[in-house]
Amino acid sequence: MRTVEWDAQAVGVRLIDQRLLPNQIEYPVYTDYAAVGRAITDMVVRGAPAIGATAAYGLALAGFQSRAGDVVNLRRDVQQAADVLRAARPTAVNLGWALDRLLRVAAQDSYAAADDLRQALLAEAQTLADEDVALNRRMGFNGAALVQDGDTIIHHCNTGALAAVDFGTALGVIFAAHEQGKEIHVLVDETRPRLQGARLTAWELEQKGISFELIADNAAGFFLKRGEAQLCLVGADRVTANGDVANKIGTYPLAVVARENGVPFYSVVPTSTIDLSLAHGDLIPIERRDPHEVLGLEFAGQPVAPAGARQHGRARNPAFDVTPARYLTGIITENGVARPPYTLSLARAVAGTL
Ligand code: MRU
Repeated sequence: MRTVEWDAQAVGVRLIDQRLLPNQIEYPVYTDYAAVGRAITDMVVRGAPAIGATAAYGLALAGFQSRAGDVVNLRRDVQQAADVLRAARPTAVNLGWALDRLLRVAAQDSYAAADDLRQALLAEAQTLADEDVALNRRMGFNGAALVQDGDTIIHHCNTGALAAVDFGTALGVIFAAHEQGKEIHVLVDETRPRLQGARLTAWELEQKGISFELIADNAAGFFLKRGEAQLCLVGADRVTANGDVANKIGTYPLAVVARENGVPFYSVVPTSTIDLSLAHGDLIPIERRDPHEVLGLEFAGQPVAPAGARQHGRARNPAFDVTPARYLTGIITENGVARPPYTLSLARAVAGTL
């Protein structure tokens, strides 16, 4: 199944609970839009495109939950629900992008009855989800051209089918290269503290039969310096007009070490992740998550951090960092590969004229 789907029978949003993977596979169905918002916050679903599609379905769900009998009141309820969903996580711009897309549908004055608007919202969410899969395929195709037969690729976080509606972004490039018959090997960053690499990326690669090995995040420099990796591929949660990239914490040091060693470093993003309204990466809101995500790690069945640190929450947990554009070799989109100067190429990518 897709990472996020509409359940018509239950009138709700079905997700895969990514917190339990790879050991357990559960498909909870949410019939309350506020619970969909909490599922995004708690990372039942995560990854920028998946968050966007989930929010879209969540807003369609809010339409069905609303008791409004006319279009004006339904619009008001939907707007309120959008405010709740928008607050679920701050960094991935796809969340607000998807909600705004549905709100534009809600604002049209072509609805004779409230139920027409309800159906229009659901149809838009379905279209958005279907488009996500199609454009991930295009990104995969565009990116696979940059992958050489025999390459070893370092990948950070999870950017596969689980991070999108299906297929994925950076991992989608790897899937596409594999489908083209290229022999590739992936060094998978574990991605502390939530281990999206170790739990999710490794699981997806295993299912596709793609050669991989897990590495501790801090081992990437070792392999880059020895010439044992030829390419780095990551996703993004938000790319600003100048090409700065917010992505999972640990992306920035990976990019710096890749540059130091002359290894190409690409971010792979749908154009919905590009935020031309922000001039540079310092303006991106960076999510700070619960310190206990860091403090809760266990070693040999025991908590790693001393009891006092756990009790007082003595940890810092920024969920993303910003990689300055100068460390990127290019930004792979569904509309082609943007290269410096990014202010020009990203605007063209978004306009579809790259
Ligand atoms: O905190 P997460 O797991 O939602 O972070 C996900 C990432 O950082 C991904 O790299 C990004 O969303 C791109 S996913 C296609």
